[in-house]
Amino acid sequence: MNCLQSWPEPIVRVQALSESGIKSIPERYIKPSLQRPNSVKHGDRDFDDSQINIPLIDLQSIYSNDESVRNETLSCISNACRDWAFFQVVNHGVSPELMKQTREMWREFFNLPLELKQEYANSPTTYEGYGSRLGVEKGAKLDWSDYFFLHFMPHSLRNPNKWPSLPPSCRELVSEYGENLVKLCGVLMKVLSINLGLQEDQFQNAFGGEEIGACLRVNFYPKCPQPDLTLGLSPHSDPGGMTLLLPDENVAGLQVRRGDNWITVKPVPNAFIVNIGDQIQVLSNAIYKSVEHRVIVNSEKDRVSLAFFYNPKSDLLIEPMKEFVTRNRPALYPPMTYDEYRLYIRTKGPCGKAQVESLTSSP
Ligand code: OGA
Ligand code: NI
Repeated sequence: MNCLQSWPEPIVRVQALSESGIKSIPERYIKPSLQRPNSVKHGDRDFDDSQINIPLIDLQSIYSNDESVRNETLSCISNACRDWAFFQVVNHGVSPELMKQTREMWREFFNLPLELKQEYANSPTTYEGYGSRLGVEKGAKLDWSDYFFLHFMPHSLRNPNKWPSLPPSCRELVSEYGENLVKLCGVLMKVLSINLGLQEDQFQNAFGGEEIGACLRVNFYPKCPQPDLTLGLSPHSDPGGMTLLLPDENVAGLQVRRGDNWITVKPVPNAFIVNIGDQIQVLSNAIYKSVEHRVIVNSEKDRVSLAFFYNPKSDLLIEPMKEFVTRNRPALYPPMTYDEYRLYIRTKGPCGKAQVESLTSSP
């Protein structure tokens, strides 16, 4: 039997657990002590990240008539890609109204009665629908979150009948939100191409041109009575190309790895958080590298985030582009389709950067 056909254990909705009023969390959500939010690898328990944030970019400036303003912005994005693999963008062209409405609509979805959400219960064959785990390993420690996963692109995989019919605005908002984000990802792909000295369409073409993949994962992190023992989402890098995250505006939770520390992202109003995924690491032959991130939870507030994944066409071979392969820097990764690549996380669940690093001996 294909190991990805069904979940290895009965699915428990974390939101239902949280709402049941339990004071201590079940064993299967308790992480080993070194993986807990407050564990520090090399002993700096007093590390304070309150003054540090990922770079903030005003995207409007890439359209400036002033060439020096344009170049300055491109160079800020280039530094952010190399140094953090994460940045926030404001003035990105997506209406703050649409962002807010879409996020609040999803919050309403998660607040619907359990029976209604169960109609969309997912399986590991496609992951589409309402889910509560990533990975199919029996006995694995689980994360403190539920999610809804849907395909937006390519068109052949877009099936609004698999999207929630409630709230009534869901399908229309997801369509409009998706169209806007695909456009924004197109702009960012051009920026990344130019910054790497390529023709502006080269990354997009390497992703399959018009036939790129795009999917939305809406994460719901319920309140947790023992937030120090678990994680909302374990450390991982995003397997795809590039991610645009719309975080909750009321509560922080995303943390980005920087050396041995985890930096909490302080969300800026109306911004998207952009990050580089493993496929861009492969295409750029590790000039840009994806970075591990995780989510912490808290006992006071639940949190909703929308992760929009922009991916290569799933059956194209992705390998380091010839522009980045030289005698001194041979290709670090073998060719692989994204379909093959993502089986790893879909089987094992979040595993830091283990997958992309396992592909090469000299990262
Ligand atoms: C993800 C992710 C971060 C967040 O869905 O891949 O990293 O803040 N989400 O929910
Ligand atoms: Ni992620």
